[in-house]
Amino acid sequence: MIRSVVRGFGAALPKRVVTNRELEETVDTSDEWIVQRTGIRQRYVAGEGETTASLGAEAAQNALDNAGLTVADIDLIICATSTPDNTFPATAVNIQNRLGMHHGFAFDLQAVCSGFVFAMSTADLHIRCGMAKRVLVIGAETFSRILDWTDRTTCVLFGDGAGALVLEAMECEGSDTDRGVLTSQLRSDGAHKDKLFVDGGPSTTGTVGHLRMEGREVFKHAVGMITDVIEAAFTATGTTAADIDWLVPHQANRRIIDASAKKLGIPLEKVVVTVDLHGNTSAASIPLALSVAAADGRIKQGDLVMLEAMGGGFTWGAVLLRW
Ligand code: UT7
Repeated sequence: MIRSVVRGFGAALPKRVVTNRELEETVDTSDEWIVQRTGIRQRYVAGEGETTASLGAEAAQNALDNAGLTVADIDLIICATSTPDNTFPATAVNIQNRLGMHHGFAFDLQAVCSGFVFAMSTADLHIRCGMAKRVLVIGAETFSRILDWTDRTTCVLFGDGAGALVLEAMECEGSDTDRGVLTSQLRSDGAHKDKLFVDGGPSTTGTVGHLRMEGREVFKHAVGMITDVIEAAFTATGTTAADIDWLVPHQANRRIIDASAKKLGIPLEKVVVTVDLHGNTSAASIPLALSVAAADGRIKQGDLVMLEAMGGGFTWGAVLLRW
């Protein structure tokens, strides 16, 4: 059977780093509170000329270079984002153009913080159905542009950045020892809309709006939803927590990450954590974390890697793949 195998990875971050101490000067918060409650120590914030598309294109080019490929080898670009450069056209076609690619097709996918997991699943389906041989899967965000910088309950949590993978079709045996995506488990429930949303949009206010979140309410649901989809991925593939080499979670909050790993029985040494460096970069957080852990040699070819995310919607999901 055909599997979607990771051929390359890449990342991009804005130039400017904003530390917790810097935020103490503008809102009523403290480095101690932010570190204790979230694990975040700093985040990157896009400056002039840096946009979701510019960061996404840089991450995508780095992934192509890492794969030893050019855009000529790519059939499809999927960009997961909730902070597009424009309402339309899609950021993915903007990235396509920035990369100098004028063939194939490109589209955005919006599932907020679960966007990269949904995009991986969508790319995998296109590859397995034969619609594409190689796909650039990008998570790119500039959440700094939709934050209310006077609201301490949200503005300290998020950051900007982008990450990308090149997925490639490969003929495999059809067993769980294959490389590539082994299963995707996706869920959503719009009943939770009011717990995490943006209070604007083209069809309502005609404005971009600001992110609003009832953090405690989101937190309450997170661990159960994350562990449910991971258990479903284990069941679908006949694998167990003991088989996992790396858990690469969405990086929203260190306490959610630790509690989920503990509930699943995955030791913390096998969990990739970058929330301290990047903050919550929504759809970009998983490919950024993957790029860090693959670049420093932790994630190696043949490793079993579990990706998971939960976010606005609510949306949540897991992808199990062998690197
Ligand atoms: O990526 C999408 C999914 N999003 C998430 O996963 C986020 C989930 N939620 C969380 O990570 C946590 O709920 C937060 C980090 C947002 C908040 O942590 P918490 O432990 O749930 O704190 P809390 O909301 O219960 O607030 C505790 C206290 C409150 O004060 P009172 O009412 O106890 O006096 C807040 O006003 O902390 C206060 N507080 C702050 N204090 C200093 C809230 N934000 C801040 C702040 N600095 N930035």
